[in-house]
Amino acid sequence: MPNRYYTPGADRARHVEILFNQVAPRYDRLNDLQSLGMHRLWKREVIRQAVAFPGCRVLDVCCGTGDLALGMARLGARVVGLDFSAPMLHVAQRRSQATLPDGSHSDFHQLTWVRGDALRLPFVAGIFDVVTIGYGLRNLGSFEDGLKECRRVTRPGGRLLILDFGKPSNRLLRVGYFSYLRLVVPWFGRLACGDADAYAYILESLHHYPDREGLHRLLNEAGWESVRTRGWLGGVMTLTSATRMAS
Ligand SMILES: C[S@@+](CC[C@H](N)C(=O)[O-])C[C@H]1O[C@@H](n2cnc3c(N)ncnc32)[C@H](O)[C@@H]1O
Repeated sequence: MPNRYYTPGADRARHVEILFNQVAPRYDRLNDLQSLGMHRLWKREVIRQAVAFPGCRVLDVCCGTGDLALGMARLGARVVGLDFSAPMLHVAQRRSQATLPDGSHSDFHQLTWVRGDALRLPFVAGIFDVVTIGYGLRNLGSFEDGLKECRRVTRPGGRLLILDFGKPSNRLLRVGYFSYLRLVVPWFGRLACGDADAYAYILESLHHYPDREGLHRLLNEAGWESVRTRGWLGGVMTLTSATRMAS
């Protein structure tokens, strides 16, 4: 049965937005549950590799509830978190304010939330040192256009970091992990919003997402260089980095 949140073509974004609008209030809790808390370690590694030093300009595309953006802002980077789901951004905003009770002094004074489309980034070319995208690229209507947009807004010498589910080459591991995504994870959707499809969507979208070699090819075609991937759990989770060389 087709997943109603996965619709190829022009309607893709609309359904993805509906999905995340719906799960936003419980998204963080379910991330902890379904990954047994491990997403925090993987995100920590993204933040480490971003080398988000004070003053560094970072864009976190598909920022959701803001884990990566908040982590990098805490290190003093000037961070923009962009997402098209207002309810996800609302949670992100609340989280950043929760740490800023009086609003007068903040670790996050250089953190901005922007509602916008990853396929049409509302920024001039070449202004970010680092662009990160956690569990976001897989959701875009066009991976190619998303990667090109990320490159457009990155300065020459700047980097892109992509965190997402992978496709392990070990067949046994892949069968086990896909079974977990097919049989167990949809229950989280039921818990979050009474809708198993909302989390069954992960596996459906992963089927349409490239494997490591495919992603490297797409990155090279979009003009990214020095592409590297590190994996965890035999490739279940991957972090891919790439550099925009001088144009
Ligand atoms: C799985 S969540 C990831 C959130 C966060 N990066 C994290 O790692 O927890 C995917 C996010 O991508 C956003 N998204 C999907 N397509 C988008 C697009 N075309 N433009 C902007 N945001 C998009 C969704 O609204 C959602 O918040």
